[in-house]
Amino acid sequence: MIDKIKGHIAEVERFNAATKDEIEAFRIKYLGKKGILNDFFAEFKNVPNEQKKEFGQVVNELKTAAQDKVNFLKGELEKRQEEKGVYGDLSRPAEPVEIGSRHPISVVRNQITEIFSNIGFNVSEGPEMEDDWHNFTALNLPEYHPARDMQDTFFIQTNPDILLRTHTSSVQVRYMEENKPPIRTISPGRVFRNEAISARSHCIFHQVEGLYIDKDVSFADLKQTILYFTKQLFGKSKIRLRPSYFPFTEPSAEVDVYWGLETETDYRITKGTGWLEIMGCGMVDPNVLRNCNIDPKEYSGFAFGMGIERIAMLLYQIEDIRMFYENDLRFLEQFKSAL
Ligand code: DAH
Repeated sequence: MIDKIKGHIAEVERFNAATKDEIEAFRIKYLGKKGILNDFFAEFKNVPNEQKKEFGQVVNELKTAAQDKVNFLKGELEKRQEEKGVYGDLSRPAEPVEIGSRHPISVVRNQITEIFSNIGFNVSEGPEMEDDWHNFTALNLPEYHPARDMQDTFFIQTNPDILLRTHTSSVQVRYMEENKPPIRTISPGRVFRNEAISARSHCIFHQVEGLYIDKDVSFADLKQTILYFTKQLFGKSKIRLRPSYFPFTEPSAEVDVYWGLETETDYRITKGTGWLEIMGCGMVDPNVLRNCNIDPKEYSGFAFGMGIERIAMLLYQIEDIRMFYENDLRFLEQFKSAL
C-alpha cells in the first residue's frame, strides 16, 4: 500500500499540464471528493496499527505534493496569460519590419557633401531666418540694388530687416565672419522665395553653397573643382562656363554640363542642345571679402551655388518638383536602396 502511495507521489511530481482543464482534471483526480487521497484516508482505519504512522506520513506527503503541483501549475498559467495580455501571443510569427528610406533631397545632398568633403571641404550651416546683412548687403547687394528683385523675398512680419533666406550664400558671409582663410566649406540648406508653385519651381527648396578662400585662388581652380564635381556626381566630364552676373562674384559664370543627345529622354531634358545648366559660380567679389573682414589683396576665392531639387530631378528623372514635398509613400519608397 505504501509503495503504491509513493508511486503516486512520483507521478504527481512528474506531472505537467498547460491548460486550465488539464490542471483541474488533475486536481479532481487527487484532491477531489472522490479523489485518490480521500480513498487513502478512508483506508486509514484498515491499516494495521504499527503501519499507521508511516501510512499517515506518506498520505500527507502525497496531499502536499498534489496541492503544491496544482498551485505551481496555476501560477505558471496565470503568468503566461499576463504576458499574453501585455505582449500578445509571443509565439506567433513575426511581422516583417518596414525599412524606411531617405528622402531623395537628403540622398542628393549627402552625395554632394561627400564629393566635396573628399577634397577637403567641410560642411557649414546658417539660420533659415536671416537678417538683411547676411542675405543681401554683405553680398554686395545694398538697399535698392536692382538685383534684389531677382529673388522675391519673404519678410518676417513688418520688420524689413528679418527675412527667410533666399539663398544659402548667406552662410558664406557668416562663415567668413567667423573663420580665417584658408576656407573650404559647403553649406547645404533650405531656402525660400515668394514664387508661384508649379511643376518647375517651388517657394521652398534647397541649395548647396560652396566657398573656397585662400592665397592665389584662381578661376582655373574653380573650373577644375567644378569639373571634378560633375565627373563624380553625373559621370560627365564635359562642362562649359557661360559668362553671367551675380552681385557677389566677379567674374561670374553659369555652369552647363554636357548631358549628351544619345537618347530621347536626354533630348527632352536638354531641349535638344545637349547642355544643361547646373549651377552659378564665380570669383568672390572683393567687396564681399572686405565686408567679411578678409583682405582682398591677400586672399582670393571662388564660390558656387546649386539647387538640390534640380539636380535630384535630373538624376532620378523626376518630372514635377512638387513630388518632393507631398510625401507620397509610393514616391518615397522608390529611394529605399539609396544611402
Ligand atoms: N545664390 C545664387 C542663387 O541663389 C547662386 C549662386 C551663384 C551662388 C553664384 C554663388 C555664386 O555662390 O557664386 O541663385
